[in-house]
Amino acid sequence: MKVMLVTGANRGIGKEICRQLSKLGYTVILCAQNLQKAEEAAKEIASQNGIIHPAQLDVSNIESIRNLASEIEKKFGKLDALINNAAIYSAKDTGSLNLGEEVFDETLKVNFYGPWRMARAFAPLLLKSDDARIVNLASDMGSFDKMAGGSFAYRLSKTALNNLTINLSHEFNSSVRVNSMCPGWVRTDMGGANALRDVSQGADTAVWLATDPSVPTGKFFRDREIFPW
Ligand SMILES: NC(=O)c1ccc[n+]([C@@H]2O[C@H](COP(=O)([O-])OP(=O)(O)OC[C@H]3O[C@@H](n4cnc5c(N)ncnc54)[C@H](OP(=O)(O)O)[C@@H]3O)[C@@H](O)[C@H]2O)c1
Repeated sequence: MKVMLVTGANRGIGKEICRQLSKLGYTVILCAQNLQKAEEAAKEIASQNGIIHPAQLDVSNIESIRNLASEIEKKFGKLDALINNAAIYSAKDTGSLNLGEEVFDETLKVNFYGPWRMARAFAPLLLKSDDARIVNLASDMGSFDKMAGGSFAYRLSKTALNNLTINLSHEFNSSVRVNSMCPGWVRTDMGGANALRDVSQGADTAVWLATDPSVPTGKFFRDREIFPW
């Protein structure tokens, strides 16, 4: 049995990643800040092949992360994939000169400290898997190659997340494959109604990185192809 955890999965791309993993027969831990929302999303997906376990998780709260890690250790004894999907993009996120520091701090707390703390807390469980993966949902907005002004906090959080991907890939060496991916511009609460992609396209590369035997480690992808850092 392969166990995969998805953060921020009560809606948007995270929920769709859970749906696709479940369809493939994996055991999925569907996490949300609000347990009731996790349970509702899990119920909605439950018609697929795999088993879905709803769980409470606030990635900006270290106690919440530790509690979930010990719950999963007791229940499953290992974790095969950690998918760091949860993120925020504040409407008050501006260029660096005008940005309120509280917006910057809150964005980094969820989008960067969250995945970093998740990786540290779940490393012992990932190391018990014989084919462990970490997938970080980054963005082209964090790519140096595509860098522009505006949305300073979100951009920096995703650039930092990509740095974490490379660092972890070296630290884990070949024992955990760690990759970043950009889902493209996707119709969700974050992406808005005019976005070009639906959630199934947005989730595809994350699911592939979590499951395909051929994927490398320490790379950045979009549409299953290498994307510039
Ligand atoms: N949509 C796009 O066009 C796009 C483009 C590039 C990259 N991405 C990335 O793709 C990922 C998914 O985006 P999305 O469009 O699906 O976003 P979304 O619709 O806004 O969903 C975000 C999810 O993150 C959760 N979340 C927020 N703060 C959290 C916290 N502290 N702890 C746990 N969960 C938290 C939200 O939970 P609540 O419901 O409780 O708020 C929600 O489930 C993100 O990493 C995003 O940066 C998206």
